[in-house]
Amino acid sequence: MAVQISPSILAADFARLADEAAAVPNADWLHVDVMDYHFVPNLTLGLPVVEALRKATATPLDCHLMIADPDRWAPQYAEAGAGSVTIHAEAAKAPVRTLREIRAQGARAGLALNPATAVEPYEDLLPELDMLLLMTVEPGFGGQKFLDMVLPKVRRTRELVRRHGGRIWVQVDGGVDAETIGRCAEAGADVFVAGSAVYGASDPGAAIDELRAAATRAQA
Ligand code: DX5
Ligand code: ZN
Repeated sequence: MAVQISPSILAADFARLADEAAAVPNADWLHVDVMDYHFVPNLTLGLPVVEALRKATATPLDCHLMIADPDRWAPQYAEAGAGSVTIHAEAAKAPVRTLREIRAQGARAGLALNPATAVEPYEDLLPELDMLLLMTVEPGFGGQKFLDMVLPKVRRTRELVRRHGGRIWVQVDGGVDAETIGRCAEAGADVFVAGSAVYGASDPGAAIDELRAAATRAQA
């Protein structure tokens, strides 16, 4: 599994998003946290910002929708040019239809699980998925402490994915930094979201290199 790093612009300067995207040329993705004040107690950005960002950077956008009605909105993020669109299992009412619509628009389809949501009930959904996102904090805010209790689920998810051919990426999101990323990689994650660990660093590009090296070491 190749290590991929997806810096979260939640920790970037929202007034200078194009510059912040340019500050991480070595990122595999730009993680875009969409929050709606309903699914989570925070409000960030939506489609117009994703459309603008799409034009401002060549880095593919990894849109994480923390919104109450992903069935209604997710396909539009794919249509806006996101390379990956992830919906929450706790919010989707018609995940099969929505995931298929995301793929039909040419994007990768992801399913996110909160820390307390088990992965096993979603096994039959795996053929519809390109990525499983395991939240390693409660969603809503950057800068929270990594939850080690999610690591056993990362392991079980990797095993489930392996049994289904190993095609699906396993992403971790929340509290991922130079200290915690090794445990995530060792447990089987291969896509790593990092907000404060990248944009809180004096050199965001160097922080990505460090995270990638630590994850690659832990995988080996
Ligand atoms: C939290 C978001 C995360 C957040 C991660 O709800 O989904 O993507 O930006 O930020 P850090 O890396 O600071 O925990
Ligand atoms: Zn996120």
